[in-house]
Amino acid sequence: MYNKKRYTKRILYILFVYIIIFLNLFLYSKKPTAESETDRFIDSLLVRMTTEEKLGQLTLHRGGTLLSLNSLVTDNEKELIRKGKIGAMFNVFGAEMTYELQRIAVEESRLGIPLIFAMDVVHGFKTIFPVPLAYTCSWDPQLVQKAAQIAALEATASGIHWTFAPMIDIARDPRWGRIVEGSGEDPFLASVMAETQIKGYQGDDLSDSRTLLACAKHFVAYGGAIGGRDYNTVDVSERTLQEIYLPPFKSAVKSGVGTIMSAFNEVSGIPMTANNYLLTDVLRKSWGFDGFVVSDWNAIPELIIHGVARDRAHAGELAINAGVDMDMIGFIFQKEMLDLINTGRISETLVNTAVRRVLKVKYRLGLFDDPYRYCDTRRESSEVMNEGHIEFAREAARKSIVLLKNDQKILPLRKDLKRIAVIGPLADDNDSPLGSWFAAGESRDVISVLDGIQDAVSSGTTVMYEKGCDVEGYDESSIKKAVNTAKNADAVVLVLGEHYRMSGEAKSRSSLKLPGIQQKLARQIVATDKPVIVLLMNGRPLSVTWLAENVPAILECWFLGVRMGSAVADVLFGDYNPGGKLAVSFPRTVGQVPCYYNHKNTGRPASPDKTKDTARYIDLHITPLFPFGHGLSYTQFKYNNLVITPCKIRSEGSVQIVFELENIGERTGDEVAQLYIRDIVASITRPVQALKGFKRIHLTPGEKKNVIFELPVEQCGFLDREMNYLVEPGIIEVMIGSSSADIRLKGHFEVQKS
Ligand code: GLC
Repeated sequence: MYNKKRYTKRILYILFVYIIIFLNLFLYSKKPTAESETDRFIDSLLVRMTTEEKLGQLTLHRGGTLLSLNSLVTDNEKELIRKGKIGAMFNVFGAEMTYELQRIAVEESRLGIPLIFAMDVVHGFKTIFPVPLAYTCSWDPQLVQKAAQIAALEATASGIHWTFAPMIDIARDPRWGRIVEGSGEDPFLASVMAETQIKGYQGDDLSDSRTLLACAKHFVAYGGAIGGRDYNTVDVSERTLQEIYLPPFKSAVKSGVGTIMSAFNEVSGIPMTANNYLLTDVLRKSWGFDGFVVSDWNAIPELIIHGVARDRAHAGELAINAGVDMDMIGFIFQKEMLDLINTGRISETLVNTAVRRVLKVKYRLGLFDDPYRYCDTRRESSEVMNEGHIEFAREAARKSIVLLKNDQKILPLRKDLKRIAVIGPLADDNDSPLGSWFAAGESRDVISVLDGIQDAVSSGTTVMYEKGCDVEGYDESSIKKAVNTAKNADAVVLVLGEHYRMSGEAKSRSSLKLPGIQQKLARQIVATDKPVIVLLMNGRPLSVTWLAENVPAILECWFLGVRMGSAVADVLFGDYNPGGKLAVSFPRTVGQVPCYYNHKNTGRPASPDKTKDTARYIDLHITPLFPFGHGLSYTQFKYNNLVITPCKIRSEGSVQIVFELENIGERTGDEVAQLYIRDIVASITRPVQALKGFKRIHLTPGEKKNVIFELPVEQCGFLDREMNYLVEPGIIEVMIGSSSADIRLKGHFEVQKS
């Protein structure tokens, strides 16, 4: 029955709703967004800046060196600040020192633009955590995020605004010294670690004085250096660049990283510092990066040495045109750039764009609101290296240890053994546990392996220590005494590896062997027939093949930070059950490099059958010494009942992968269950395995848990022949494993035509 009155009411109601919606849209479009307020502020500042002052904002100067922070702050630097010639400083720290320099910038320069203070806070500020390659082996993103949060708390309490971290360079060549600073060989794992570290450093609000501006480095493919020689030429295909080296940086940009550092190296003929395609087309136009790009140390002048710049002015021209915004101690932007502008070779518009990016980050940091907010001496005394941070450092160290081998379940050791011999040059080393880039960390705060063992054993146990030999060098005079000590012990803990100065920047090695005569020491200790446990302290995978064949138990301990000794003892004596997994493959010998898990199958895949002609060496096993994702436990885990739903799917949506994980041993422990896929047939060759998920699961003895992975089918795609990303129909094999080489469950699903 038609009711005119009710119809009219309904029309009026609909009209009312539309008016409300329109008003909101109109008002919102006029509401000054935070972005426009920021832009207005920056533009109002920019118009008042002289060209020299603009170029000052693009200049990053150092106030010290890593080993002597603040050591280079002189009256000259203070005068440069006063004149607005410097926009940022690094290797300056401390609430008082940064306050003094900030005061000069804010109160004595013409425009009072605050400085940014930076440091390489890569794995902790004063409370030093495991080196990044080590904490990546925890496969625990929450743990890594918390380490970054604590580092941010401590650094910002000491006047620092900006860290040159995370380092997210994929490394497939362990000869490369900087493998220690990153997250290993896999793009998926490295991308997760990039995101979690940036979240930890930057939090949700950069203007919070407890959050730290992050810098994803080194963009890009720095780890692809030929021969693993640092700074060397990188010559990779566009496909390898897109599928292996770029993904962690894309994740970093997606996570809102505030800055990016361009790498020293060239990529296929174009040095990164002058690489428009990657710094502008990819980073900004394709990914939408809106922070600023800082060059690496003196990298702009090094364009001359690369052979692409005639002189300093030309180097500056190339860099700023490519998309570099800030010059780390090259002083070209501060000096030669002025002539480039005055002669019209560089438009001031380009400089203004770079200056805006820098000022915008300073604005986001809240420095224009309160430039002294990070110079709080009270915070510095209460928040730096407090007990909570130290306890967490021990937790992070424990979780980063990887049990490589444990024959006859020789581990864990009993604490009440009568005599334990601790042998090896690294056992009482308080420097190496800090690893490279130890920021404000100090050796005196480190508990060494020897200290940790001595603190852990029962009162009736005698711990006997002998160095046996040096880390490097060939002096055999101490071996005999070490052997005799081992003969008098119930068990021997043999601490071998590299000094921390044998990895990190400019520390590439041509060999992956134990340095010096450590191998000789090991042979003679093992020859005593005593139970021997090897602890490796190293900044890269080592080809410890003889140890793997002749020593019953090996723990990969890396460089674990200030509580290394305590964490090692916790694992050695069973107070903590190790659950770490390798984030990088261990080659059997340097000749096996590059050796990574996500390799292609080839037409003649390597086979153990030597009668066949296959992609193998005639004089070496076809497998790595220890594979990617490898790590044992003091308990055992069983994988059951894999269910994949749906078994057929179009290229949208996700596949759910469920299985049961059970602790069938007698100890509580963590297992990192790993999800790998393989696209069996595709228009482009695909890797035999690709990590697409992982979870670190804690289980008590007998406990079972259902583990669920949601796999977006989108992640099964790849770049086609025209380098366009697509998901092709076909069978995707699913592998669930305890490592890339220890697959426990297999299944598959089919991607159907959309
Ligand atoms: C170095 C490194 C870079 C570091 C910078 C500042 O040369 O390549 O990682 O952040 O200088 O110390």
